[in-house]
Order: sequence, then structure tokens, then C-alpha cells
Amino acid sequence: MAKVKGASPPPRDIIAEVERLRKAIEHHNYRYYVLDSPEISDAEFDRLFRRLAELEEKYPELITPSSPTQRVGAAPLDKFATVRHSTPMLSLSNVLSETELEEFDERVRRFLKMAGPIEYVAEPKLDGLAVEVVYEHGRLAVGSTRGDGITGEDVTANLRTIRSLPLELMRPPGVPAPPEHLEARGEVILAKEAFAALNAEREARGEPIFANPRNAAAGSLRQLDPRITAARPLDIYFHSAGAISGRVFRTHWEFLETIRAWGLKTNRENALCRGVEEVADYYRTMAAKRAALPYEIDGVVVKVNEIALQERLGQISRSPRWATAYKFKPERAVSRIKAIVPSVGRIGTVTPVAELEPVRVGGVTVRSASLHNMDEVERKDIRIGDTVVVERAGDVIPYIAEVLKEKRTGKERKFKMPSRCPVCDARVVREEGEAAYRCIGANCPAKLKEAIKHFASKGAMDIDGLGEKLVGQLVDRKLVKDFSDLFRLDHETLAGLDRLADKSADNLLRALEGSKKPQLARFIVALGIPLVGEHVARLLAEEFGDIRSLARADEARLLAIRGIGPEVARSVLQFFAEPQNTQVIERLLEAGIRPVKPAKGAAKGALSGKSLVLTGALDSMSREEATRRIVECGGRVTSSVSAKTDYVVVGKEPGSKLAKAKKLGVPTIDEARLLALLEERA
Ligand code: IVH
Repeated sequence: MAKVKGASPPPRDIIAEVERLRKAIEHHNYRYYVLDSPEISDAEFDRLFRRLAELEEKYPELITPSSPTQRVGAAPLDKFATVRHSTPMLSLSNVLSETELEEFDERVRRFLKMAGPIEYVAEPKLDGLAVEVVYEHGRLAVGSTRGDGITGEDVTANLRTIRSLPLELMRPPGVPAPPEHLEARGEVILAKEAFAALNAEREARGEPIFANPRNAAAGSLRQLDPRITAARPLDIYFHSAGAISGRVFRTHWEFLETIRAWGLKTNRENALCRGVEEVADYYRTMAAKRAALPYEIDGVVVKVNEIALQERLGQISRSPRWATAYKFKPERAVSRIKAIVPSVGRIGTVTPVAELEPVRVGGVTVRSASLHNMDEVERKDIRIGDTVVVERAGDVIPYIAEVLKEKRTGKERKFKMPSRCPVCDARVVREEGEAAYRCIGANCPAKLKEAIKHFASKGAMDIDGLGEKLVGQLVDRKLVKDFSDLFRLDHETLAGLDRLADKSADNLLRALEGSKKPQLARFIVALGIPLVGEHVARLLAEEFGDIRSLARADEARLLAIRGIGPEVARSVLQFFAEPQNTQVIERLLEAGIRPVKPAKGAAKGALSGKSLVLTGALDSMSREEATRRIVECGGRVTSSVSAKTDYVVVGKEPGSKLAKAKKLGVPTIDEARLLALLEERA
């Protein structure tokens, strides 16, 4: 604790309260972020946090570096310092089939001269960024990236912003106290949902999107400004040990259980397996579960459980003999780039897209792949005519993994970004410091098409039947010049379009009619204001209550909203300062759109305040959509079942969560019941 400065020292009861608050906040952080089983509401948590911040402001001498208020404190760096790992961070050998897995097991048993089955720990192989954290006397001292395994970068300030990472280890009764020196290694990840939200935000901002959650996690952790990292909901799972003073663990499993009790998050899916057959079963289970997991995994890791056996096995070159990675087969195929075409997005970003000879990858036919931006094209040296490897990893959209340069014939051509928009012929510019090129044409039809698709999308006005082709025709034939024209379409006009059956025209008109009373927040999303996604839209809707008041908002009032910063405020002001935009809104209101005011406080639906867990696949919507709709109704979606879970939603091929729900007596509901609850609003 800092020396007492100035006049009188803080009163004793204040010191005691500060300590009590810190303990409580750490405990609830652990329940929420590590165990995924909160005991108090977010509001109660906020209250504790605010009280602590208030006392610390009044008595700054009480602030300690590991106070929960001190996660984001450090100033931006010029560059990262390097950290030498006290023992090298090894990599893992791979097996690619069940036969190879069996061979691994045979090698282990031969080496140890053991006939019987070996006990293994099987774990998901998280697709993130490997890091090491060091705790000295129970306090987080240093955190670093793996780097080349010998030295990495000091990312302590950024790691401190990860809520699931304790700044101080816990000392629960019945568990040995943390050692003086503890090095734990794990994986920093960004959950699938957070990844999608981050990319949507970046797209709205005209920034290049991340190709996969791994890159996004790596990019977020390697920020020189910890405030940027703090805004990304990173998570961390621990999976192995570095040097540890004093105490030795008998098994890897015991290590995992103990560090979890100290507050370090470990994966719930880890399993003890007796013998290699159980490992093979585990692999199959995880492969089936993969899509339903909230984070990306690219295989499973198998480890000999007993540490004494691990030590006997030792390592060869840079990998341990006692562990291996059994990776899922990457879904990949070879194709050829027929052309690279610039494609214009909603806010005018011009993205190079590779048109491919159609190829099947993991069950879907891929015809094109985004090349993201020119930096990417140049870095990978992708050319028209190149033979390339197309890959799909898990849920991730297909991408060019590799250029097969040895297949080049000399006829390949480099792609150049056009200086004029391929759609409207306006100038294409690259702004200082940005990777993206942008069309500056105010009336670019390509922008309008994308804007309409966004307007009609599920998280916005949710208008069914407005597909790519139809939107294209409506814009090209100048039937729709702004959003409001959609609501002036009639049967005759629609029936005159290519390949639009009578029935589809009717369905579309019905969908348009049915969309006229959107929640105000969705209406705001639909307008496509840069930087305004679902979350910000909800804040704006709650604050302003109707669209005209929002349009008249001034900067001070926007900035007074918790969760809205200067960049977002500027973007909102800029949007409404443009007369074209306010005119479109007026025209929408004239066309009969009546945004619905949000209920005060939390949405009062049947799901308000309820905690739900999803297991298995749903028919009518994706996991992401189900989560969004539950949250809109005031509910919460968590990833594991506890006694506090209100409902477990059971879809097709449910996982172990169903068994857990039964064991704990948590009510289960099916998809139909979920849909009914989503509709029920007070
Ligand atoms: S154990 C000596 N367990 O995969 C063993 N690694 O090629 C050290 N990884 O960079 C690693 N999930 O960060 C282990 N459950 C898991 C893992 C895991 C992901 C990463 C790890 C390392 C790479 C190994």
C-alpha cells in the first residue's frame, strides 16, 4: 500500500470497507467470468464497484495495483519490452488420424515400459494466442506472449484488462496456498460472438475486418494502448505450467483443479481419459460439439496425466513426448482465381474479392473469397490466375490460405485497385492511415444496395424476401432510391420484375407491411449510422425514446450516456447533420413506419432477468440470433449450466449440458417454447 500522504490517515472503518469491497468484487468476478455462475445481478455488482471507486477517489493512498479498479490504468506504450521465459514454451507434435493417435499411445507405453492403459487428460485445443503469466506472492507480476518460445513480448498491461484473469490469486480454504512463484500458460481467445460483433463494428467503421477470431485476439492483445484492448472482450483459459516454486503436483489434472481454485480459468470441457480409446471418443465428441462451442477450437490436446511419467518421457526437439495435438482436418481444397473484382460495401469500402473456379470445401461450394484489403493482397502476393488453397476453419468464412507459387505459369497478373468506383465512377480514395479504399460517390448504387440489404437484415427491420438479386433490380431500375421507396412498392411493380413469382411478391409486400412497427433500437440500427451497432442503438433508444429527439441530439447529451464515447457521438451528429438523412427518416415516417418506444428500464418480457443456456442446434435460427433475441427480451445467455440457470434450451443433438440440467433439476424447454417466450411481452 502507498505511504499515507497529506494530513490525516483514512479512518479504520474505511480501510476495512475498501478491503471488504475488493474481496467481494474479486469473488463475484470469479463467479461470473471464471465459473460462469454469478451470484448477484449486474446492477448489484456495479454498485459494489462504484462504491470502491468512490472511496479510492476520496482516499487515493488506499489504491493498490491489484485493486479491481486498476485493470485499465497504464498509459500507451511506444513498443513492447521483451520477456525471456524461464523455461521454453514448447510446441506440440501432431497426429492426423486415429491410427496415428494409437501410434502415439504405443510410443508412450513402449518408452515407459507400461503394458496397461495410460491415464490421459484430453482438452480442447483452443485457437488463440499462447501467453504466460507470472504470479509473485499471489500477485500478477508479468504476462507475456509466447513469441518464439524463448522470448516473448511483455503484454502485462493488456492482460490486466481481461476480466477473467485475477490480479491476485485466491486462497480458498481446503486448497493449498498459491506458491511464491507461479508461471501458468494459457490461451487468450475471443469468443465467436464477440468476434462477430467486433467485425460488424469494424465494417461499419470502414476498417478492415479480421479473418478469424485468432487474428482478432492476437491483434487485440498486441495493442500498444491498453484502453483498446480493454474494449475487446478477451478471455483466457489456462492449460499448462511453467516453473512453479515449492509445491509439485502429482498429476496434470490436479494442477488444473488447483489453479482453478486459485482463480485461474480452466476449460470445463477438459476430461480425464483412461486409455487411448477414451481419448478417441473424446475427439469424436468434441468434433460433434465444435460448432456449438462459444469459442473456436482446432482440435484436441492429449497429455499424459501423471507428472512423474511426463518427466520420464521428456521432450524431443521442441515438443514434449508426453503430449500431442490431434487436430481436426482442415477443410481445404485447391482452386484457381479467375478474376479479382473490386466490390463496394455499404459505406463505400472497396474490397478486392477473388472469383474462384467453384470448389467444394467442407460440404459447401465456394465461388468467391474476400481478400479483405490491398495490404493482404500484397502481403500474400495474390494474383489473378493463381492456383490457391481455399480453407474453411470451423464456422469461419472461406479464405485463401495459401498461394501455390510453384504452379505459376508466368501468365498471372497483379490486381490494381481502380481509381474510380466500378459502379458509379466516382473517385476511389484511400484515407491516410487506413487500409481500406473508399468510393466517395454520394449516390453510388452499390452503397445503396448494401444499405438496403442492411436495412432489411434480421437485426434491423427484419424484412424477409429482400434478397441480393431483388435489391439489385430495384436499385438498377431506380424503383428504390431510398429506404422509404420500399414501402411504396406495389404488386404490379414487383410482378414486372425478372423471375419474381406472384407469391414471392405477395410475401414481400406482407413482410414490408409487417415490419412497420420496429423496436426503436432496431430502426436506429437499420439507418446504418457508422459505429452504431445493436448495443449503441439500444442506449440511444433508451435515452431519446423517439427518432426525432435523437435527430436533434447535441453532443453534450450524447456524451452523457454511459457507454457512448466521443467517436460514436461525432458519428451520430454527422449523420443527422446531413439533410439527406433526416429527409429519408421523414419519408419513412410518412410511409407509415412507427418505431416502438422501448419500455422503461429492462424489457419486460417472459424472459426478463432470466438466465438461459443453449445446447444443440436450433432449426429456426442460429445461436447468435437466438442469443440476440433473448438479450433483447431482457434475458441473459450463459455458456454453462448451474443451479442459477432458469432454462436450458434443448435443440438437435444436445451436448452434456442437457445431462447437467437434469442432474441439477433445471427446467428444459424446446425450440417452440423458446419462440413462444420470445413473443411474450408485457
Ligand atoms: S499444452 C507442452 N493445451 O497450442 C504443451 N496447448 O502447439 C504446451 N494450445 O502454443 C501446450 N490449446 O498455446 C496446450 N489445451 C491446450 C491448448 C494448447 C491450445 C496451443 C498452445 C501452443 C500450441 C501448441
